[in-house]
Amino acid sequence: MAFDIDMIKAVYERYPERIAAARKVVNKPLTLSEKILYTHLWDGAADTEFKRGGSYVDFAPDRVAMQDATAQMALLQFMQAGKDKVAVPSTAHADHLIQAKLGADKDLQESLNKNNEVFNFLSSVCNKYGIGFWKPGAGIIHQVVLENYAFPGGMMIGTDSHTVNAGGLGMVAIGVGGADAVDVMAGMPWELKFPKLIGVKLTGKLSGWTASKDVILKVAGILTVKGGTGCIVEYFGEGAKSLSATGKGTICNMGAEIGATTSTFGYDDSMRRYLKATDRADVVELADKVADHLTGDPEVYAEPEKYFDQVIEINLSELMPHVNGPFTPDLATPIDKLGEVAKKEGWPLDIEWGLIGSCTNSSYEDLTRAASIAKQAVDKKLKTKSDFGINPGSEQVRFTAERDGLLGVFEDLDATIFTNACGPCIGQWDRAGADKQEKNTIIHSFNRNFSKRADGNPNTHAFVTSPELVAAMAIAGRLDFNPLTDTLTNEDGEQIKLDPPTGTELPEKGFDVEDNGYQEPAKDGSGIEVVVKPDSERLQLLTPFKEWDGKNISGMRLLIKAFGKCTTDHISMAGPWLRYRGHLDNISNNCLIGAVNAFGKATNEVVNQLTGEKGEVPATARAYKAAGIPSIVVGDHNYGEGSSREHAAMEPRHLGVIAVIVKSFARIHETNLKKQGMLGLTFANEADYEKIKEDDTFNFLDLDQFAPDKQITLELVHADGSKEDIKLNHTYNSQQIAWFKAGSALNLIREKANA
Ligand code: F3S
Repeated sequence: MAFDIDMIKAVYERYPERIAAARKVVNKPLTLSEKILYTHLWDGAADTEFKRGGSYVDFAPDRVAMQDATAQMALLQFMQAGKDKVAVPSTAHADHLIQAKLGADKDLQESLNKNNEVFNFLSSVCNKYGIGFWKPGAGIIHQVVLENYAFPGGMMIGTDSHTVNAGGLGMVAIGVGGADAVDVMAGMPWELKFPKLIGVKLTGKLSGWTASKDVILKVAGILTVKGGTGCIVEYFGEGAKSLSATGKGTICNMGAEIGATTSTFGYDDSMRRYLKATDRADVVELADKVADHLTGDPEVYAEPEKYFDQVIEINLSELMPHVNGPFTPDLATPIDKLGEVAKKEGWPLDIEWGLIGSCTNSSYEDLTRAASIAKQAVDKKLKTKSDFGINPGSEQVRFTAERDGLLGVFEDLDATIFTNACGPCIGQWDRAGADKQEKNTIIHSFNRNFSKRADGNPNTHAFVTSPELVAAMAIAGRLDFNPLTDTLTNEDGEQIKLDPPTGTELPEKGFDVEDNGYQEPAKDGSGIEVVVKPDSERLQLLTPFKEWDGKNISGMRLLIKAFGKCTTDHISMAGPWLRYRGHLDNISNNCLIGAVNAFGKATNEVVNQLTGEKGEVPATARAYKAAGIPSIVVGDHNYGEGSSREHAAMEPRHLGVIAVIVKSFARIHETNLKKQGMLGLTFANEADYEKIKEDDTFNFLDLDQFAPDKQITLELVHADGSKEDIKLNHTYNSQQIAWFKAGSALNLIREKANA
């Protein structure tokens, strides 16, 4: 079920009819993004035009991908859905939980020792429910997806923001939270606001030191980290056709860094070559039959301003290599200005580490281009001044690169080859001395460079660039080195100028691998037992949340009235808490510990109204729950902004919170609350936020008449016995009210499955 050519065939078979229907309703030439969206409507062929940036639309994605950190809770939830198998081809990838320290073999063994319980759980649950499992060391989710599953014109969701990487093969691939993945795996529709469209026209051709990475580094500089929000970025033009498929993947990957919903490219020869090289000539054969549908209409690309909401043009022939950072991926500096800017800004000029890898830049082509620089250094008696590390993107890439001598070249330059995994890109880097928090510079080919991301040191200045530039800069060891113009002094005192990189798009002898690390799920998983030890610290089977008894809920106490910004990080922190992502009770000990209490303005300190004593938020919630007293959370504007992690809704639910009442919600979090069977309500009159007192008791007066578009009345009983009613709004439709009644959306899915 993990790779399904019949599924791809079925998708392409419906393309002509659905595109024809879309043409009728849209009534103008179509972009590629619209074609993919309109062919993946949950309700079949389009009978109405959707408003870009306005309409909420139900889609039917073709695939689901999950990584190990997010898959745990997604799969624990899926286990509750009462399904025997996933409804769409799905895979899980063990790539985040592997630390980089000593080198691939030792690090992988260490991770197996530490995380075996989680890996075994993922392996058995995947096996049972028909989900392909890529074992630790098999590779980074998005590289593996590109090599095995992505296909032109498809739609995929994944529980990782860089799922968008699959746009390199012409998909609409979107990062989501685990609860969304569960819906799709359980055979339910997936909702998305119909995106706006940004067109990026690429002219010219890359040459010299400029790489695909520089396209997105440039775009990030233009659009900034927010510029793509709510948009699909569609690349087109002769320049786009000249890029390799993995290079396109790099560009789409970092679309996440400009906030884009996703990015994509039209089907072309580079995709044909890549699909064939990765053993998928059958996909090419099918795609060729509908090739016109797998790219935007010619009229769209001829006059893009008429069809896109925004258009950017970049001439690849004139594009300069870029280095972006530090601390944000949109601070773009062309290489010829980097030294000057670095000195002016006081960035440390000595580069301590050069790192190549991550889902952004770990393809075979990436390694060949970086190796061509490394080889020159070896041949011309240069040594790396910086430490140098490589994380290959997949075992297939690693095996082939080793066979072709690429890894040997890096090792000749004293590079450490780390596991085929995320490693330093997700802070899984045991970097010696990082705890001293010294100011220093590193340069890498990853996508994100926020403070502390790679090594936990807030003073590490991390710069993002192409793999070949990482190699050159690691050899020079200086941020003010420009390989296009500058020379280096070798062992013999000679001045050496590095030639521009050369690379091979695809291995001349083809890809090869002995054990790709894939576990095919059982055909019939009904006999497979998923083992979760009752005393496990890391994993806990979920028990269904209780259904609502249909009565007005009363006697509620205030858990916390959050003041100001309250993101999902404030509600469910990451960092060390990542360890408990598969254990709802343990991770609930971080519930709202980052939120500022409106009374006293402290974090993680609220008054327990049962004792009158101050306590931590999770402990206070547990005290109310133990006493059988329901609680509420009150918040300000845009409550729950940030990531789509469902833990931020599941934790309060688990701790007995009934309702979250705020001035306004971030949309995904509001949906997550609804899915977990909670009440996400907003003040009809924002000023009523001020009426909520720390020691109030709360009663719903008409919740028993809960209905779409009908306000809910909340009675506040103040400590002096006085009472006042406030009105609350909600956006629940009848389906979502059914989730609340059932206790959660999952309970409803299970009820239907058992019916
Ligand atoms: Fe992994 Fe970093 Fe990509 S964490 S999935 S390599 S962004």
